[in-house]
Amino acid sequence: MEIKDFSNDFLDDIMSIEEKSFKKPWTKEMFLSSVSNANTRFKIAFENGKPAGFCIYWTLCGETEILNIAVDPQFRRRSIAAGMLKYMEDDVKNENSRVVFLEVRQSNNAAVNLYFKFGFEKTGVRKKYYAGEDAIVLRKII
Ligand SMILES: CC(C)(COP(=O)(O)OP(=O)(O)OC[C@H]1O[C@@H](n2cnc3c(N)ncnc32)[C@H](O)[C@@H]1OP(=O)(O)O)[C@@H](O)C(=O)NCCC(=O)NCCS
Repeated sequence: MEIKDFSNDFLDDIMSIEEKSFKKPWTKEMFLSSVSNANTRFKIAFENGKPAGFCIYWTLCGETEILNIAVDPQFRRRSIAAGMLKYMEDDVKNENSRVVFLEVRQSNNAAVNLYFKFGFEKTGVRKKYYAGEDAIVLRKII
């Protein structure tokens, strides 16, 4: 796996992964808007030159939040998400971040397992955060 910065050349690949991954996918405009924020990092994982997944996170005042992460279904269970989380952690430590937060649907077993395996801990619940479904708030001190 190779990790590179997002570029517009890969926007259609990212949209395809996003639409296969979420019931309410981000729009192109949301991806492009995230890139325009100087605090945001948008990384793409490549397998044999093909975009296989992506991770978007931002760091502000020593705290990082994961905004979006997904892996193309055809590349899942090959440690791509785990590799992106490791990359993110090393990257934001260099920006003096000491904690990472994220929200996840409580029913999203794949993601919840991924985060627990990576050392995240549950710190709270946001009731009905996702149109009727609770979000679990997870945190990892890095
Ligand atoms: C969640 C997601 C990013 C995981 O990507 P992935 O590259 O397949 O994950 P990895 O291969 O790195 O898995 C690492 C660990 O996560 C857990 N995990 C991943 N997928 C899982 C699944 N379908 N069921 C149960 N546990 C799972 C396992 O503990 C796994 O370790 P193992 O393979 O040694 O058992 C991927 O399923 C996805 O894109 N889902 C849709 C988008 C999404 O839900 N994003 C998260 C929003 S918060």
